[in-house]
Amino acid sequence: MAARINYSVQNTLCLLNPLNYSVNAKTTHFKTGLNFSKNLIFPRKLKRPTFCTCAVSNNDRQSSEAAETFVLTTPLYYVNAPPHMGSAYTTIAADAIARFQRLLGKKVIFVTGTDEHGEKIAAAAAVAGSTPSQHCDVISQAYKTLWKDLEISHDKFIRTTDPKHEGIVKEFYSRVLDKGDIYRADYEGLYCVNCEEYKDEKELLDNNCCPMHLKPCIERKEDNYFFALSKYQKQLEENLTQNPNFVQPPFRLNEVQMDWGIPVPNDNKQTIYVWFDALLGYISALSAEKEQPDLQTAVSSGWPASLHLIGKDILRFHAVYWPAMLMSAGLDLPKKVFGHGFLTKDGMKMGKSLGNTLEPNELVHNFGSDAVRYFFLREVEFGSDGDYSEERFINIVNAHLANTIGNLLNRTLGLLKKNCQSTLVVDSAVAAEGNALKDAVEKLVEKARIHYENLSLSSACEAVLEIGNAGNAYMDENAPWTQFQARRCCF
Ligand code: MSP
Repeated sequence: MAARINYSVQNTLCLLNPLNYSVNAKTTHFKTGLNFSKNLIFPRKLKRPTFCTCAVSNNDRQSSEAAETFVLTTPLYYVNAPPHMGSAYTTIAADAIARFQRLLGKKVIFVTGTDEHGEKIAAAAAVAGSTPSQHCDVISQAYKTLWKDLEISHDKFIRTTDPKHEGIVKEFYSRVLDKGDIYRADYEGLYCVNCEEYKDEKELLDNNCCPMHLKPCIERKEDNYFFALSKYQKQLEENLTQNPNFVQPPFRLNEVQMDWGIPVPNDNKQTIYVWFDALLGYISALSAEKEQPDLQTAVSSGWPASLHLIGKDILRFHAVYWPAMLMSAGLDLPKKVFGHGFLTKDGMKMGKSLGNTLEPNELVHNFGSDAVRYFFLREVEFGSDGDYSEERFINIVNAHLANTIGNLLNRTLGLLKKNCQSTLVVDSAVAAEGNALKDAVEKLVEKARIHYENLSLSSACEAVLEIGNAGNAYMDENAPWTQFQARRCCF
């Protein structure tokens, strides 16, 4: 493959961002980077970005039509407040996975969106002095804007206030009702408005405070409709036995404790239980844009999901309640649910309710999206909690992205520009044959692939960084510029 490299130096980085390779694209853009200064003067604002391009052959890729489908979802985020770094974290991770799956040649449907019903959203709108609908529009747009700034490559953005979603929820609900899985009863208990769930007293702190939101739960008695979860206990257990990888990481399985009975209102005095509504967003998102779909059409557009990516706080909803609802409606279960850890600040979950959030817009504005994406993927072991520190952020980005990857790009592309009119005239795959660096890189690519498959995103980043280190070491040892100098002397 001969490639023309239009090269000039610029100042942002996205080498570790595989979507720069698009399956159907004819050209690939590489943005290369320079050092980020440790004293926080980032060159991002000072220099204009430029790109180099090279042609990429797509011959060995599967065509989209024949490709296996990979449906990946983030949670649908509450619109009670604008997104924070915790909300962005799941989406950044999902995006890295989506890009990897596309590189494998799969047809990816990457679903994200907003969850716009429920008490706390109505309350937030009242505080903001707007109608719920205006409020939802504003916050939902803030999510869309942040996803754009973070270069999120989602295929679908579903809002649970979308009329097409409403139709699907009603149809699904009727199926469950017809199955006899909804019954009426009184329910009395302690309710956390922020979690939108009744709590078991045993899990509460002093003064009946929710351990997540540190706010007191309220006594609530409701004449309600319940979903007959216990009917599905055996089937749920069988699913966990037959599919040991259904809940990931494996240690999260302990957290999937079952309690039997979820309130699901179904008369028009009440709204459909918020979780019932929200989870169905994953299915309604699949239907085509303009279409008013029925449940079956949406399902046949890609269901079941290959992977639900969620925070550990909503694992039970996804690994117990949602599968039971799907069983009741006669639909397939998602193949995997991954519950990642929390971004914390001083050990507490970063969140809107506690008000201890980190502003993603500010981070992206100051450091660029690649730095933000890379830092959280590399620094937080996917599945475990991780604390943010600005000092660590700057050190990691400088060392890994600027000094290793950026440096390698600048050295190689600079050499090409100076000596080869920015044109690679040889087939690099053939020219590298027998070279130890090629073997080393191939092994590292395979290592990264395995880590990506296992959703070990931090280790995948590490393997990519090793490629950068190997490349820099090769340049140091072989000093390829000396060969150009020698050749010039001969002419
Ligand atoms: N609306 C529900 C989800 C319905 S899915 C059908 C909800 N929304 S949420 O906005 O409160 O949280 C959504 C997700 O945001 C969490 O599960 C988690 O994935 C992510 N995070 C929110 N705060 C987070 C951190 N501090 N750290 C990491 N992720 C966090 O729950």
